[in-house]
Amino acid sequence: MTRKTILRALAGEALPTPPIWMMRQAGRYLPEYRATRERAGSFLDLCYNPDLAAEVTLQPIRRFGFDAAILFADILLVPQALGLDLAFETGEGPRLSTITTEADLARLRPVDAIHDTLSPVYETVRILAGALPKETTLIGFAGAPWTVATYMIAGRGTPDQGPAHALKAANRPLFEAILDRLTEATILYLSKQVEAGAEVVKLFDSWAGSLQGEDFAAYALAPAARITRALKERHPGLPVIAFPRGAGPRYEGAHAATGADCIALDDGVTPEWAAEHVQPAGCVQGNLASPHLVTGGAALIEETRRVVRAFANGPHIFNLGHGITPDASIDNVHRMIDTVREG
Ligand code: CP3
Repeated sequence: MTRKTILRALAGEALPTPPIWMMRQAGRYLPEYRATRERAGSFLDLCYNPDLAAEVTLQPIRRFGFDAAILFADILLVPQALGLDLAFETGEGPRLSTITTEADLARLRPVDAIHDTLSPVYETVRILAGALPKETTLIGFAGAPWTVATYMIAGRGTPDQGPAHALKAANRPLFEAILDRLTEATILYLSKQVEAGAEVVKLFDSWAGSLQGEDFAAYALAPAARITRALKERHPGLPVIAFPRGAGPRYEGAHAATGADCIALDDGVTPEWAAEHVQPAGCVQGNLASPHLVTGGAALIEETRRVVRAFANGPHIFNLGHGITPDASIDNVHRMIDTVREG
């Protein structure tokens, strides 16, 4: 039996060497990514070009032999498919037309119309399913409703998600209707990725940590649970990874509250704490702090070993606590991988 290591970890197996991949593993720290990106034109042109999107997905697999490939796309393609304007200004991050009124919500396209825009993404998945080495797992993804809504409401990235919190306070029914719409669209989007060949799906809730009190359960955990349940109904046995980033102590109980097979951890919790409080409930993914890939040295090796050691007695997928940054060094990525695989 040569079942893929990522799928074994997701099924609850503690492996002698944890499988490894990196958030944002296709990205600007790689010269081959920068070259393909140049060829494609804009970042969005790259996302919607199935051959080139598949190419950049494969680049880190060829270079590093990661155990998983993550579809190259972006969480903001869904709001675009729902009818918002989207652009990525160089060095400025995303800009979207905003949704702040009932009239804006009424103007969105019906959820089942998203496939008109997103079909190139499904084509990328199909290409990858046929092109990946047989031991490599293909991960599809989407943004979680809260995180995607923060960009739709503000029209851009925000340090504290202030505009989304303000709309939630001023007009909770509208805020909840936006999240509902995104929840439905996300189910349809991820389901198509699975039909095209994604073997695992991951839900990125990058701003979950700014939800306070009961809002965390209502707007981070509950939508993740709805999406997970609907996907598992449609695709029995599909493994789901949830990433409520910044959850802190609220990572405890997140497996049960979301129904996800794996909870991805950021580096705001120590691996020792998470091994005791989160991993008993299922697979965990994480959580080396990504700045170590910039600074390297003895700390990179020590902290990599520390993460491996802390999670060694249960199911674990090695990863970073957040995406690799453009200033990271390729040599440091090699050192991290060698350290994980040497044991
Ligand atoms: O991980 C991967 O390699 C797969 C592809 C992927 C991208 N974005 C490509 C990308 C994934 C999984 C994402 C998720 C994503 N996108 C998130 C959630 C994860 C997280 O980082 O918290 C968020 C919040 C976004 C939205 C987004 N996309 C922002 C705010 C930005 C601009 C900031 C930046 O890093 O430039 C992006 C751009 C983006 N998405 C890039 C890549 C490779 C850089 C674009 C470029 O090539 O210029």
